[in-house]
Amino acid sequence: MSEPELDPRIAMVRDGYDAIGRRYHDWSHSGSTRLRFARELTDRLAPGSTLVDLGCGPGDPATRLLSERHLVVGVDLSAVQLKIARQLAPQALLVRADISRFAIRPAALDGVASFYALGHLPPDRHRPLLEAVARWLRPGGVLVTSAPLSAGEGVEDGWLGVPMFFGGVGVDATVAAATGAGLVVERAEHVVETDSLAEDGSPEQFLWLVASRPET
Ligand SMILES: C[S@@+](CC[C@H](N)C(=O)[O-])C[C@H]1O[C@@H](n2cnc3c(N)ncnc32)[C@H](O)[C@@H]1O
Repeated sequence: MSEPELDPRIAMVRDGYDAIGRRYHDWSHSGSTRLRFARELTDRLAPGSTLVDLGCGPGDPATRLLSERHLVVGVDLSAVQLKIARQLAPQALLVRADISRFAIRPAALDGVASFYALGHLPPDRHRPLLEAVARWLRPGGVLVTSAPLSAGEGVEDGWLGVPMFFGGVGVDATVAAATGAGLVVERAEHVVETDSLAEDGSPEQFLWLVASRPET
């Protein structure tokens, strides 16, 4: 059976991360924000919990940290990033797939992490992904994710040396999508990352969401 055709914007992201290779890890891994949120997620869940890390990239430091205590499935579309993740997060299971077309049994997961990946999805894929995550989480399960602050889509021509697609729906629509999917948004934090600079020297800024599926 042939693979369903990939949206060209998502194919651009895959090809971009394949071409970027280790440059993404070298540029990004020392930022403290993802570690703060990865620790928050890992501390909330019992050891041995089952988690999915959507858009796990090179797997360091977040996937590695999560997989030291939990059963983690890292999902990414870039074969090159997954190859790096095999070395840097050896305890994680790794799957090559489009996170906006991924399927998991309902209520199978204790947690979902997705750090800096939603911002590469076309805007019309954000709400369906949050709805899917809400189905995958068991009651009491937790989502921790970053998302773009603003709505829109576009291509940056020389992002880490490659053309790269970015898309988002903005703060209000992201929170509304999570709430509409049945998640309780515990925190929606606008984080300015002073220790993680964009290529133009300005601090990276994202919405960080901590949301959970109600127990009943
Ligand atoms: C900015 S990196 C973040 C990597 C890692 N989560 C971290 O915190 O460093 C984004 C990752 O998401 C992956 N990604 C983006 N869109 C994706 C999609 N639709 N399906 C699967 N992976 C995707 C990219 O290949 C890339 O590895």
